[in-house]
Amino acid sequence: MIYLDNAATTGKKPLTVIKAVDTALREYCANPGRSGHQLSLKTAAAVYVVREKIADFFGASGAENVVFTLNCTHSINCVIKGILKPGDHAVTSSLEHNSVMRPLVKSGADYDIARVSLTDDGETLREFEKRIRTDTKLVICTGASNVLGKTLPIRQIGKLCKERGVPFAVDAAQTAGVFPINMKEDGIDYLCIAPHKGLYAPMGIGVLICERPLENTLIEGGTGTNSIELFQPEYLPERLESGTINVPEIMGLAAGLDYVKGLGLKKIYTHELELCRLLYGELSKIERVKLYTPEPTFGMYAPLVSFNIYGKLSGEVARYLSDKGIAVRAGLHCAPSAHRQIGTLEAGTVRVAAATFNTPNEIKTLVRVLKNAEFI
Ligand code: ALA
Repeated sequence: MIYLDNAATTGKKPLTVIKAVDTALREYCANPGRSGHQLSLKTAAAVYVVREKIADFFGASGAENVVFTLNCTHSINCVIKGILKPGDHAVTSSLEHNSVMRPLVKSGADYDIARVSLTDDGETLREFEKRIRTDTKLVICTGASNVLGKTLPIRQIGKLCKERGVPFAVDAAQTAGVFPINMKEDGIDYLCIAPHKGLYAPMGIGVLICERPLENTLIEGGTGTNSIELFQPEYLPERLESGTINVPEIMGLAAGLDYVKGLGLKKIYTHELELCRLLYGELSKIERVKLYTPEPTFGMYAPLVSFNIYGKLSGEVARYLSDKGIAVRAGLHCAPSAHRQIGTLEAGTVRVAAATFNTPNEIKTLVRVLKNAEFI
């Protein structure tokens, strides 16, 4: 199978990740931070090392700030519901996933939407500038659209938020492990990560890095600390980490992070973007293909391309490709806002997303298979 649905999850996990999960189940199978016996202590120490690695990789100020969650959506929910109350004001972008939009709506906060320009980051920044108010409690946006690949000018938005004194949260589902992210330099207060994508971790583990406290908690429960108290601890990570954590996946995540560090972000991104540029170039020669962005250029786009075939629903094209052994995603990609902006709420788009293991030949095969379709 040619797997090009890597924006949903990277489809081939490195052997080191698989082995790390296996090792964790064999050698670290005790509950960390709960018991005083040797295996529990050994497991807790190993988990702490992973927190340190993550903090270091993303420029966070300490290992304690690294919280393990269920997934990126859980991390985003912790932030939005940890800060916003009904009637508060927030700002977000026009390209958000429902992982941001749904909790934002549920929070009861008022929000304004900064329209993201697909070509001019200065224009996007001005949109944010206009919408942040003196009473804005949170600015939250994606690092890059999961539909269009367009990156947002995160560092400039972070700087703006610092100037205005507003907490800044980033949904890094499509950018962690692909683009350099440094929480301090980028002015990010809350970073929400989907490790099973760009960090090649197993599905079922998320990360939230908090540089500021969160007033409210999403869930409460046992933390293995201050057990006499009936209130959730104030300190991290325990404040946001009730219940047993997912040690095997945390170990898998560490191996995924090592894999990414070993290859290097620049090499990963260059390889993936080149594949997308190859695809974009080939697709733009086919008359019946509609593309929705300018050609993806370095830094401006995450490694994914959305397109449609005139007269076809995206799902029909994806099904045809699936029958030919090629995995892509079609539809709205849980991000109706982005489709509203480009006018594809009805048809959706076919999305191709590259990862480290994809090759130019795979892209050429996809193009050949498309060209051979009777609907082209
Ligand atoms: N949010 C993931 C995607 O874009 C699942 O496919």
